[in-house]
Amino acid sequence: MTQLPGLLDTEAIRKDFPLLDRTVHDGKKIVYLDSAATSQKPRQVLDALSEYYERHNANVHRGVYTIAEEATALYEGARDKVAAFINAPSRNEVIFTKNASESLNLVANMLGWADEPYRVDHETEIVTTEMEHHSNIVPWQLLAQRTGAKLKWFGITDDGRLDLSDIDEIITEKTKIVSFTLVSNIMGTINPVEKIIRRAQQVGALVCIDASQAAPHMVLDVQALQADFVAFTGHKMVGPTGIGVLWGRQELLEDLPPFLGGGEMIETVSMHSSTYAPAPHKFEAGTPPIAQAVGLGAAVDYLSAIGMDKIFQHEHAITEYAVKRLLEVPDLRIIGPSTAEDRGATISFTLGDIHPHDVGQVLDEQGIAVRVGHHCARPVCLRYGIPATTRASFYLYSTPAEVDALVDGLEHVRNFFG
Ligand code: ALA
Repeated sequence: MTQLPGLLDTEAIRKDFPLLDRTVHDGKKIVYLDSAATSQKPRQVLDALSEYYERHNANVHRGVYTIAEEATALYEGARDKVAAFINAPSRNEVIFTKNASESLNLVANMLGWADEPYRVDHETEIVTTEMEHHSNIVPWQLLAQRTGAKLKWFGITDDGRLDLSDIDEIITEKTKIVSFTLVSNIMGTINPVEKIIRRAQQVGALVCIDASQAAPHMVLDVQALQADFVAFTGHKMVGPTGIGVLWGRQELLEDLPPFLGGGEMIETVSMHSSTYAPAPHKFEAGTPPIAQAVGLGAAVDYLSAIGMDKIFQHEHAITEYAVKRLLEVPDLRIIGPSTAEDRGATISFTLGDIHPHDVGQVLDEQGIAVRVGHHCARPVCLRYGIPATTRASFYLYSTPAEVDALVDGLEHVRNFFG
């Protein structure tokens, strides 16, 4: 068995993930290489979900009876766990949403309806990048269309990095918000956050970071990052679907208007007007995703017990090995950084002129699960003049043997297509 420095004890970890024991296609053990789309869930998270529904299920912030108080304590306790996980200065800065897309849409809508000095209007500019997931492009396009603001973006270099050569022309005195991904969901690139934030701060622009592909894999310290908003989702970090997070600086959350109105987010309501609850509840209209938040709390406990720095080291070792092995496959072209430096554990590639959907299908027949397509990052595919890629993404339970299985599987794909 290949041993690499920095690997976690995957034999022990994999015992926590029931799905990894599954077989497909007549007894082929699953090789799950699609954690960038969604991670598998450990028993500890599954247990927290069933325990919540079996013993504590009630609506939160409403009942005076025992299980309603327990549900509220569990829901708000999950907020404390997430706040500690990202080193938030205050628990009130953690807003629960349904996913990262909703978190990013929430920021766009807060700014669209805000008063000065935050207001985005026809005299202002919004900056994003060509490397974004659609969820960090479309909300800004919608905001630009609605307000007349100009949308600008950073391009990508040939080796899958952000092209910041014209940073001073792209982020200007007119820029109100700069929103970009910390780690690319398609190429794995880790972006130079400090450089972008420094420039945004020079011109007084707000900064929003999409940390969907970062929060599951590395230490995420919102105080060290110095952004204004950070968005991520639970289901990619061993938590359940249906729960996302928006962290925002407290003074901004106090000043900015709510987006969704309804129960839970108010202080008083009359037929003429309403006043709002303080953040975070101001931004959590309606019954929230209670069980999902509890599950996310358990996920955060699980990851923290292992240690995010150790998880990052593990994935770095696997990525280094995977890049080396993949580059041995004839006709394989990595789309994005082709070294393991400053990149996460997501690797996209093309294989000669074999269509990625065919690659994915033949790999699936061998039990290997990868994602194929444009990965909700179509501008990246357009940038490289390709319709799609095959994407393998690794996590804390991934092993060098799974990298070998992928490489063998690709050899089989090449033979299959002659
Ligand atoms: N955002 C997920 C991905 O990149 C679905 O695959």
